Amino acid sequence: MAGAAEVAAAALLAVLGLTAALDNGLARTPPMGWLHWERFLCQTDCEREPRDCISEQLFMQMADRMASEGWKDVGYRFLCIDDCWMAPTRDKQGRLQPDPKRFPSGIKKLADYVHSKGLKLGIYADIGNRTCAGFPGSYGHYEQDAETFASWEVDLLKFDGCDFGTLEEMAEGYKKMSSALNKTGRSIVYSCEWPLYQRPFQKVNYTEIKQYCNYWRNYADISDAWSSIKYILDWTSSNQDVLIDIAGPGGWNDPDMLVIGNFGLSWDQQITQMAFWAIMAAPLMMSNDLRQISSKAKGLLQNKEVIAINQDPLGKQGYRITKDNTFELWERPLSEGAFAVAVLNRKEMGGPQAYVLATMIIGDGLACNPSCLIQQILPTRRDLGLHNWVSFLKLVVNPTGTVLLKIVVNKNLLFIGNGRLGYSKDLL
Ligand SMILES: *[C@@H]1O[C@H](CO)[C@@H](O)[C@H](O)[C@H]1NC(C)=O
Ligand SMILES: *[C@@H]1O[C@H](CO)[C@@H](O)[C@H](O)[C@H]1NC(C)=O
Ligand SMILES: *[C@@H]1O[C@H](CO)[C@@H](O)[C@H](O)[C@H]1NC(C)=O
Repeated sequence: MAGAAEVAAAALLAVLGLTAALDNGLARTPPMGWLHWERFLCQTDCEREPRDCISEQLFMQMADRMASEGWKDVGYRFLCIDDCWMAPTRDKQGRLQPDPKRFPSGIKKLADYVHSKGLKLGIYADIGNRTCAGFPGSYGHYEQDAETFASWEVDLLKFDGCDFGTLEEMAEGYKKMSSALNKTGRSIVYSCEWPLYQRPFQKVNYTEIKQYCNYWRNYADISDAWSSIKYILDWTSSNQDVLIDIAGPGGWNDPDMLVIGNFGLSWDQQITQMAFWAIMAAPLMMSNDLRQISSKAKGLLQNKEVIAINQDPLGKQGYRITKDNTFELWERPLSEGAFAVAVLNRKEMGGPQAYVLATMIIGDGLACNPSCLIQQILPTRRDLGLHNWVSFLKLVVNPTGTVLLKIVVNKNLLFIGNGRLGYSKDLL
């Protein structure tokens, strides 16, 4: 039974039009880390691919890099295992067990190692009878599996939806695993794929999903290709009215992994992914090879100003405000009245294109009222100086590239006289 305080809190949230998030105190900002899937897939043949197969060695090597090469320091904390870690069958007690050849020390030992590096361990399971790659599913074992993960001291669960049975079984399964995790008493971030599997058959009730999950995938897997990034941006902007209302501390839309540092994106396209994952308040889960990554890609993924936009404590997801034949303009409200702005050049022909940004359309005219400081964050850091609410700012954007700005409102500065600048105290 809900107490008076909870009823009052729920009523207040309803009045404010806010949605209650899963009450586990986690993911107050979008989770950051590394997930093996896009880069390492389901390679289980360690004889043929000793370096890249899904094994404890792979995760220990990534943990070493995350701790020693600045990743942890800028916020990438979760080292996450995806599908294909399991043995083909459960043990005699019905518990999930890792593949004995590839994880000879067991998951608890791996978690200890990951924790010793100041990182957290994520694991993967599936709602149905089989995972997507055909390993044992959690159907009929939700509580047992939650207890197993807690006993291994796992910190995050990605719960996939392959082989989900009926829509009712799926909804029940996601809810049951949520409460099973809660019952273990261990803080475990809960990543769902519920909307992805529900959407083809039913309207998704995000209010409900947010009550059970910390973040959730909305559509198919990302791939290492510009077409995939474009699809995600198009899908997100065409569904933004629903998506931006639901995102916030404790519950996030997940447009899937960062593929920066791999093979398929040009440099400008990598900048675009980083800029938009910050604008979209997306979980930042990299899927790349931290043992072998260019210093350029590393610099982009570790860019503290972009990460600060992604992790902004206000927790509002950004959205597209205009679009023409060439450009898309997106904004994200940040704390203290600031805004992040992204200008994407969608043209895939020609060279850099000029875009004139009218400051009066940012933040419904409030971002630069009466004046603002504008910083270019990507593709390179530049101070663009002081502007007012009727400024026009010329930006040059490469094909498939993005210019990311941060706009900080400046309440103290007034424009006086013939456009001369002065502090308000000068008027006293
Ligand atoms: C379990 O849920 C309760 C109530 O919703 C919450 O107060 C508690 O912190 C949760 N515990 C964990 C471990 O998530
Ligand atoms: C899993 O298999 C059992 C036994 O065959 C079946 O009753 C159940 O409906 C299946 N569950 C799902 C989610 O498909
Ligand atoms: C969505 O879920 C919420 C919370 O469970 C519920 O209150 C609401 O009625 C649902 N909305 C629809 C349209 O079913």
